[in-house]
Amino acid sequence: MSNEPVNLSLLEAVDTYIEQRYASEDEVLTQALAAAQAAGLPEINVSAVQGKLLHLLALLVGARHILEIGTLGGYSAIWLARALPADGRMLSLEYNTHHAAVARENIARAGLAEQVDVHEGAALDLLPTIAEAVATGQQPPFDMVFIDADKPPYVEYFQWALRLTRPGALIVADNTLRQGRILDAQASDPGVAGIQRFNDWLATEASITASIVPLAGRKGFDGLTIARVHNERT
Ligand code: SAH
Ligand code: DHB
Ligand code: MG
Repeated sequence: MSNEPVNLSLLEAVDTYIEQRYASEDEVLTQALAAAQAAGLPEINVSAVQGKLLHLLALLVGARHILEIGTLGGYSAIWLARALPADGRMLSLEYNTHHAAVARENIARAGLAEQVDVHEGAALDLLPTIAEAVATGQQPPFDMVFIDADKPPYVEYFQWALRLTRPGALIVADNTLRQGRILDAQASDPGVAGIQRFNDWLATEASITASIVPLAGRKGFDGLTIARVHNERT
């Protein structure tokens, strides 16, 4: 791996260039970030450009039902939910009570309270109940899942996502290159190790078509995994 530092100021300038043209934040999004910062939340939300990409992906798959794992302050949820049709719904899972409260306020200010439900709890505790609701028909299968919570159980999150989605659905996972740290076979960081396990496992998974899109911008250098669930389950 090269030890050349990524030129962050160039990445930032290019990110701003894209943002100004395609991903400018309105008052609601700016305020959502300000409220999250004021409430002391970590600034690990997606960028505006990444948010717009998620929004675009949701439009491309015609998403009516979206599941997000990892809400934080609701910033990515707002970008995603804005791609929903009027009768569309979104469920977002968050185990931190404080984060969930900030997210609900931001989502309400965005006028999306009717469409977006923040479920509080550890995702691996909530997902079986959601799967039950899908199995019994109370919850329509999801058209899109965005995985962005803690990294060690990414494989398990994805396996649940496979059970919760319709054929042709989109499953997207954030942070799958980690500034290139995934190249380090000796990585001791459990987050990096979790992503390495995820990337290696997903490459062998037969029920999807997937790749990793490298993304570089104001949040540094990372990857977004985009997977499409096959029409026929294998
Ligand atoms: N998607 C958000 C960022 C999410 S940051 C955005 O772009 O705006 C990751 C979030 O996942 C944090 O809020 C963290 O509290 C939450 N989280 C971490 N582990 C979790 C778990 N096991 N279950 C549910 N949420 C979890
Ligand atoms: C971290 C988590 C994220 O989901 C992200 O996009 C960036 C950073 C983190 O835990 O450090
Ligand atoms: Mg992330």
